[in-house]
Amino acid sequence: MKLVKKVLLAGMVLAIAAGTVFAGGKQESAGGGGKTLIGVIMPTRSEERWIKDGNAVKEGLEKLGYAVELQYSDDDIPTQTRQIDDLITRGVKVLVIASIDGSALGTQLANAKAANVPVIAYDRLLMQSPNVDYYVTFDNYKVGQQMGNILVKGLSLDAPKKKPVIIELFAGSPDDNNATVFYQGAMDTLKPYFDNGTLQVPSGQTGFTAVATLRWDAAEAQKRMENLLSRYYSGNVVLDGILSPYDPMSLSALEACKAVGYGSGNKPLPVVGGQDCVVAAVKSIMAGEQYATILKDTRSLGAATVEMVDKIIKGQTISGLDTTQYNNGAKVIPSLLLDVVVVTKDNVQKEVVDTGYHTRAVLGL
Ligand code: BGC
Repeated sequence: MKLVKKVLLAGMVLAIAAGTVFAGGKQESAGGGGKTLIGVIMPTRSEERWIKDGNAVKEGLEKLGYAVELQYSDDDIPTQTRQIDDLITRGVKVLVIASIDGSALGTQLANAKAANVPVIAYDRLLMQSPNVDYYVTFDNYKVGQQMGNILVKGLSLDAPKKKPVIIELFAGSPDDNNATVFYQGAMDTLKPYFDNGTLQVPSGQTGFTAVATLRWDAAEAQKRMENLLSRYYSGNVVLDGILSPYDPMSLSALEACKAVGYGSGNKPLPVVGGQDCVVAAVKSIMAGEQYATILKDTRSLGAATVEMVDKIIKGQTISGLDTTQYNNGAKVIPSLLLDVVVVTKDNVQKEVVDTGYHTRAVLGL
C-alpha cells in the first residue's frame, strides 16, 4: 500500500475510533433555502459576550455558505429546550449550544443523537450526556489560574507582608461547569498564600457553594458584597482584594465597596479582576478602578467553531483536541481549548483597543 494511502487509512481509523468523523452532511436542508442549516443557541442577549459569540459564529458560517439559525434563550431553560427541539425538527445538520444549565438538556441531546445531528458544546460543557460530540472553549482551568494570578500580582502577595492581606471570594453559577473549574484553578493558585497566612477571608466563606452566584447575577453579587461588608468589616478591618470571575460581578462588588467609603481617604478600592473584557470593565480599568479582566477573544472561539462545524459537515478529521480534561459525567468530550489574555491598565491599549476587540468609539475614546 502506498504511504499516502496508509496514512489516510490510519487517520480514518483513528478518527472513527475517536468518533470524529460524521457522514458528510447533505448540502441542503429544510429551512436553509437549499443551504445546509446550522443551529446556534446562545444563553442570553443580556450579557455582552454572548452577542459577540453569536455574531462571530453566524458570520463565519454564512461566509462559508451555510444557513444559520442563531437563537438566544434569555437565560430561560424551557425556552432553550424548545429552541433545540425546534431546530432538530427543522433539519439542522449541526447544533452549536452554549447552555444555561449544562445538565438540563439531556432529552434534547438524545433527540439530536436520534436525528443524527452532531452537537458541539460551546464554551460551557454540556453535562451528564453521552450525546455530545465536541467541546470548544477556552482553557478554563488556566482561566481560573489567571484569576488567582491577578490577585497574586495586584496584591503583591510575593512581597514580604507586615499583616495578612484580606480578601473575599466570589464564584460563578453553580449550574455552569465553567464556574467550578475557574474556582478550582483560582483556589489552587491562591492555596500557598492561604497556607502561609498571607491571605485571610474574614467571612470564612471559601467553599464553592457558599461563594457561588446563580446565573452570574451582578445584582446578587452586589447584595452579597454589601452583606459581607456590613457583617465582617466593621472597625478597622479593610478589604484588600476580591476574587471575582465575571466583570459585571466585579463592578457591582466595587459599587458596594464605594458605598461604604472605599476609593477615598485611607481605603483604596480593593484589587479585583474579572472576565470577558466587557466595555464597562475596560473603561473602569482605564480609569484605574477595576484592576484587571480576562480577554476571551470571541472572534477566535467563533472561528474555531466555524472550522469545526465545516469539518464535521465535510467528514474531515478534527485535530488538536484534548481528550483527557473534560469528562462531562458520561464520557470524556474531545475539546478544543483556546488561550486567553490577562488585561490590565498596562496592556489594555495593545490588547483591546489596537486589536479592535472594542472600538475606540464604543470605549468613548
Ligand atoms: C463563561 C464566561 C462568562 C460567564 C457568564 C461562563 O460560562 O465562560 O466567559 O463570563 O459564563 O456569562
